[in-house]
Amino acid sequence: MTDSRLDPVEVHLPEDHAARALAEDAREGLTATPKTLPPKWFYDARGSELFERITRLPEYYPTRAEREILATRADEIAAATGAHTLVELGSGSSEKTRLLLDALRSAGTLAHIVALDVSATALRDAASALAVEYRGVQVSGVVGDFTEHLGLLPGQPPRLVAFLGGTIGNFLPAERAEFLDAIRAVLKPGEWLLLGTDLVKDENTLVRAYDDAEGVTAEFNRNVLHVLNRELGANFDPADFAHVALWNADEEWIEMRLRARRALTATIPELGLAVEFAEGEEIRTEISAKFRRDRVATELGAAGFELAHWWTDEANRFALSLARAD
Ligand code: AVJ
Repeated sequence: MTDSRLDPVEVHLPEDHAARALAEDAREGLTATPKTLPPKWFYDARGSELFERITRLPEYYPTRAEREILATRADEIAAATGAHTLVELGSGSSEKTRLLLDALRSAGTLAHIVALDVSATALRDAASALAVEYRGVQVSGVVGDFTEHLGLLPGQPPRLVAFLGGTIGNFLPAERAEFLDAIRAVLKPGEWLLLGTDLVKDENTLVRAYDDAEGVTAEFNRNVLHVLNRELGANFDPADFAHVALWNADEEWIEMRLRARRALTATIPELGLAVEFAEGEEIRTEISAKFRRDRVATELGAAGFELAHWWTDEANRFALSLARAD
């Protein structure tokens, strides 16, 4: 027996969770006015691949900016937290996670890695790779939805919960508050949250990041229609929908929408539903909120965290916040 321990991936979702949740979200969102779909349904195998391509686009700066901050600050994060456990919300397969893990290992505190993801497959792959790379460190995978299953996280304190990439921007403000409350509720005072947030900046830079010249983001956006076709038997022709990315200056978020190029009716047999679109009618498929330091500090404070460190990349495009549970 080696000293490397890989826990069986714990599954906190019933087998049909995703199918039922998608059906429910699609029914609710596509019968509402205006029509909406939650962004989490972009990420089937093809959508995840498209997102990987997005992270390498010249226009999509957040991934590179956050990596720059982590590369510069990982040792400080390790020293400030002394974390024994890194909890990554998301599969933890990324190069960015490794920057953190390497720093915690060098500091000599790393004992346990916990990754939480909705995809059991992504998680198993990530967990076995991590168990090989970080011998002697316990690796646990938890299959769950990070909006619902935070209470089930293992790991010995002090824990550092990392929520990177700016994904918190996909939540509406009320959902954000609920999510931060839920993270705070599973932590003890003195444990840590590392939060990545994209920052408010000029409109052109923001819009181009969500409407790249190569059209990868457009394909990513339309991918949700492929998902509805495959999973719910819908008959969307994704080519009938134009990709729209716009800056909502009042809310300070990017919105992605799919705009019907003509009047059409889509049928969704699994929902017993026919969805009518007027020409030009849109489905809002994502919001991606952009932040200022004050808002991040205030929202963290409201959830019972204290902002201990605020780091940005050299160009001030993206921020990492290290917050301590009060
Ligand atoms: C993975 C949620 C952080 O909001 O920037 C990329 C997803 N959407 N391009 C983001 C996304 C369009 C991304 N997050």
